[in-house]
Amino acid sequence: MFGKLLNHQVKNQEIIVEFEKKQSKIHIITDEIWNIFASFDSEEEPSAAIEGNKQRDTEFTVVKKDEYLQIATKSVIAKIYDDFKIDFYNAEGKLVCEDYRGKRVVRKGVSEEFIQMALLEGHQVEQKKEHYKIEVLKKMQGDEAFYGLGDKTGFLNKRGYEYEMWNSDIPDPQVDSFKALYKSIPFYIALRKESVYGLFYDNTYRSYFDMGKESDEYYLFGAEQGNLNYYYVAGDSIKTIIKNYTYLTGRTHVPQIWTLGYQQSRWGYESENQVREIATNLRKYDLPCDVIHLDIDYMERFKVFTWNKEHYDDPKKLIKDLKEDGFKIVTIIDPGVKVEEGYSVYEEGVKNGYFATDKDGDIYVNSVWPGKSVFPDFGNEEARTWWGNNHSFLLEQGVRGIWNDMNEPASFEGQLPDDVVFSDGVKKANHAKVHNIYGHMMAKATYEGLKRLDGRRPYVITRACYAGSQKYSTAWTGDNHSIWAHLKMAVPQLCNLSLSGMAFVGTDIGGFGSDTTKELLCRWVQVGCFSPLFRNHAAKGTRFQEPWQFDEETLNINRKYINLRYQLLPYFYDLFYQTEREGLPVIRPLIMQYEKDEVAKNMNEEFLVGENLLVAPVLDQGQTCKMVYLPEGTWYDYWTKELVEGGRYILRDAPLDVCPIYVKAGTILPNYTKQSYVGEKEQDTLILDVYPGEGSYTHYQDNGEDFAYQAGEFNEFHIKVNKDNTCTINLVQEGYDKVYKMIRVNCLDHVVEFQVNDMESVNGGRVIKVTL
Ligand code: GLC
Repeated sequence: MFGKLLNHQVKNQEIIVEFEKKQSKIHIITDEIWNIFASFDSEEEPSAAIEGNKQRDTEFTVVKKDEYLQIATKSVIAKIYDDFKIDFYNAEGKLVCEDYRGKRVVRKGVSEEFIQMALLEGHQVEQKKEHYKIEVLKKMQGDEAFYGLGDKTGFLNKRGYEYEMWNSDIPDPQVDSFKALYKSIPFYIALRKESVYGLFYDNTYRSYFDMGKESDEYYLFGAEQGNLNYYYVAGDSIKTIIKNYTYLTGRTHVPQIWTLGYQQSRWGYESENQVREIATNLRKYDLPCDVIHLDIDYMERFKVFTWNKEHYDDPKKLIKDLKEDGFKIVTIIDPGVKVEEGYSVYEEGVKNGYFATDKDGDIYVNSVWPGKSVFPDFGNEEARTWWGNNHSFLLEQGVRGIWNDMNEPASFEGQLPDDVVFSDGVKKANHAKVHNIYGHMMAKATYEGLKRLDGRRPYVITRACYAGSQKYSTAWTGDNHSIWAHLKMAVPQLCNLSLSGMAFVGTDIGGFGSDTTKELLCRWVQVGCFSPLFRNHAAKGTRFQEPWQFDEETLNINRKYINLRYQLLPYFYDLFYQTEREGLPVIRPLIMQYEKDEVAKNMNEEFLVGENLLVAPVLDQGQTCKMVYLPEGTWYDYWTKELVEGGRYILRDAPLDVCPIYVKAGTILPNYTKQSYVGEKEQDTLILDVYPGEGSYTHYQDNGEDFAYQAGEFNEFHIKVNKDNTCTINLVQEGYDKVYKMIRVNCLDHVVEFQVNDMESVNGGRVIKVTL
C-alpha cells in the first residue's frame, strides 16, 4: 500500500517519511509517546480525545540505514521499513512490538442465500471482512495478554476476543459474544513476558479489534474510514503505560468528596413524595447515603430542562429539605430534545442551528423517550456552550450533579443514518465519524457548563464515552441485568475501564433489568462498595431493590458495606488524588501490581483498591467459601487481622455477610468515623489503620468541593511504615487551613493518639514517629 521507503524530512519533532505511493508521519510527542500517522481521507486534525499541546521537548535521532529508517528517543527505538512496516524496540534494543508481515487468514464466507435462510430462525451469520481500508496487523507472541478496550464484555484478558468500536445501546443481557457496548475506548495494553506497551487507535469511525481470535500469529485493528492514526505508548510497566496514556488523553480530577458516597437511584421515583419517602427510609434504616438520583420521570413529558409540575410541586423546596438531611440530588439529562412548538429548548436550538441535520440541511428527527426528538450538535462549540448554560435551570433549584444517558446516541426508530450532519469539533462531519464521540462531547458540554455556572468540581455521569472522557465525567456500565453473570462481569469490566483511563466507574448495583434477589444484592453491594461510583439503580417495572425491600439480613449486609465505604472514604479520596497526579486508576486488576504473576494475568474474580487492598468478592450463587488468590508477600485478613503468606490460593469462609478482603503488610488505610453523609460530622481526627511491615503512603486533605486545591489549598501527609515496627508521619504540605487536630494510629493491638500541634517542626513541615 505504501511501497518502497524513499526518503524523510525532519520538522520540529515530526519525521515525514516518503514512500513510493504514500507519505506518513511520525510525531514524537514525548520520549515514550509517539504518534504514527498516514492520511487516508483527511489531513491531520485535532483529536477529540486529546486536549491542548502534549508535545514535550524531546531529543531524538534519525538515521537512514540500508533497509530501514531508524528513529530513536532515549526510551524507544523504531525501525521503519518498506510498506510502512514499523518495529518498536526498547532502549536496550529489545524488540517490543512489531508489525506482522504475513497475510491474514480469514475464514471463508458463506453464500448470501444461506445467510438469508439462517435469518429466518433469527440466526445471524457473520461475514468477515477480508480487508479493511485501514488495517494494522501486529505480531502476537505466545504469552501476550491484552487489557483495556473500555467497557467490553467478557473476561479480563482480551486475548482471543473480537470487538467492535461502535457505541451501542442494546438492553438485552450482555454476554461474551456482544462485540460492542456503550463506550468506544480504542486503547489497550499488551503484556508480554519481558515487555509491555500500549496502543491507542485514535480513529472515531466504526472500527474492529481482533485480539488473536482470527489467528495466533497476529492481532489486528481495522477501520473502513478515517486515517491511519495511532499512538505507540511505551513504558516499563503497566503503570507507566497508563500514566503516559492519561498524560495524553487527560486525567480524572479529584472529585467532590460526597460523590464518593452511596447513591440511591431507580427509574421510577415518580413524585416528590416518593423521593421524600426514599430519603426518610434511608435515614430510618441508618443507611449512609449522599445522593438520590432522579431519572427521566422528574421531567415534564421527558422534556430536558423541565420539571413535571404535577408530580413535583416545588422542586427547589424538595431539594432544600433533602439537603438539610445531607442528600444531594442528581438529575438525568438525555440528549434528545422533544420536537414541540413553544418549548424553549427546542425553539432556541432550531433558531440557532444547534441540532444535527440530514444531508439536505433539514433538522434530523428520530424518536427517544419524549417521542419525536432532535439531537444537539455537541461538536459545535456554540451549541455546547448553549447546552451547558441550560443547566442553570437545574442548578438554580439546587441540583448538584448531572447524569448523561442515551448519548450513544440511542434512538428508537432505527439508528441515525451515517450521513446525518453533525460537527466534529472543527468542521461539519457525518454521523459515521461523530457517533463514537457523541457522548464524549455531550459530557464535555455538561462538564464545562457546570464548571462555568457552579464553580465546584463538576459531577457528571455518562453512559457513552470515547477515549479521554475521564476528563469530564464518571461513567457507569449501562443496563446490566440482575443476573449472577453480570455481577461476575462487573469485576473485569470495571478493571478494564480503569486501565482504559476511566478511573471513576461503577455498575448498577443489584442489576438494572429484571428482578434481583436478596442474595444477589448482598453480593453486589460487596463489589459496589469498592467501585469508585457506588450506586444502586434499577429499571422501572422491576422489583424494588433499595436495601430495606427484603429482610433484616439483607438490610444489615447492605448497611455493613455502605458503612465500610464511608469508613474508607478518605482512602478513596487519596486514590483520586493519585489519579489526578499520576493517572493511576482507583481499582486495579491484580496484574497491574503483579505483572510477572501468571495467576494475576487472568484473575477475573479479584481486584485491588489502590495498591494494597485486595478484594475477593463472592460472585456465585450459594457460595459461602471463596478460593482467594493472594499474590506474593505477606497479607492480613481485613476482618480477623490474621497473617497469611501470599503466593498461593487459600480458602476463606465467606458466609453471605463476608466479602473476603486482604491488606498487604506495610499498608496504611485512612478512615473516617461513622457518618450518615459526607460532612455530617467534622472529621478532625486523622485515623490511620497501620499494618506492620514496610510501606509508604500519601494522605491528602482539602475542602472536598472546589478547585482551590489547584492553587495549593491542600494538606499532604507522607506516612511511612518502617521495618523496625515504627511509623513516621510527616505533614509536608500545609495549604488548607482546616488541618486535622488529632491523629489516631490504630496498630494491630493498641491505639496511639496525639495532637497535630504536638508534632515536631522540621524543614517547614511537621513530623512524628510512632511505635507500632
Ligand atoms: C436507560 C439507562 C437507565 C435509565 C433508563 C431511563 O436505559 O441506561 O439507567 O434508568 O434509560 O432513563
